[in-house]
Amino acid sequence: MRKILIVGNWKMNLNTSEASLLVHRLAERIKIHRDIEVVLAPSMLTLQPLSLQIDRRKFRLAAQNAYFRDEGAFTGEVSFTMLRDLVHYVIIGHSERRHIFDETLDTIRDKVAAAVRNEITPILCVGETKTERLDGETKQVLHDQLMSGLSNLTAKEVGAAVIAYEPVWAIGSGDIAAPDKVADAVSYIRSYVKDVFGARGANKLRVLYGGSVTPDVISGYLGISGVDGFLVGGASLNYESFSGIVESTRKWQRRHAEVENER
Ligand code: PGA
Repeated sequence: MRKILIVGNWKMNLNTSEASLLVHRLAERIKIHRDIEVVLAPSMLTLQPLSLQIDRRKFRLAAQNAYFRDEGAFTGEVSFTMLRDLVHYVIIGHSERRHIFDETLDTIRDKVAAAVRNEITPILCVGETKTERLDGETKQVLHDQLMSGLSNLTAKEVGAAVIAYEPVWAIGSGDIAAPDKVADAVSYIRSYVKDVFGARGANKLRVLYGGSVTPDVISGYLGISGVDGFLVGGASLNYESFSGIVESTRKWQRRHAEVENER
């Protein structure tokens, strides 16, 4: 059974006690599933206390960002080196970092390389804006973001990475991307990786969908070949909706396994 990765990106929400309460509630509802990996990406401030609170068989932690230098005079930044014992994953190149904080393709490339150097799995976010989609530039945008983001990695490192396809217009808008659009983009991402890094890397690479994901919409995406899970923003802040996403995934997997068995 394909393992599904579900990442909750809490963005700049929840102070330490609110975060602790949410984890407590999620832990009551989410069971340990062999075929589902649940990852929480709280604020930087909350990573340390949550690392002591979580049951590591149920949850793993991700950082939402880090700086690519290991140490030095970089006021306000936190390095991947500082995070390496705390997190399994780091989200890199989220559209909010690209568009609000003006992160360039080069910065994102250096962050992906720094994550890998520090043995943290990068979740590289890629995706087009509404205008780029309407102008027919989706594949070109994905190409440029992938080419630069992965350029310092080996085929093996790419195979161990995670790419999140997040169309910018679907993030936080309630305007979900239709499954056929996601299928096209994900298949493009995998074919790019196959062409540049070979079939092994492309097969092993995990690709997520993100953008207004809720429990009600996930089955449409789980059916797409090549989608390995979700990057969830708003719905990850509510214990019912986030545990609902995990539960719906489990039900989908069970149904899918039954159908496979009947064949
Ligand atoms: P959303 O955010 O689920 O609220 O659309 C997704 C994301 O920003 O990763």
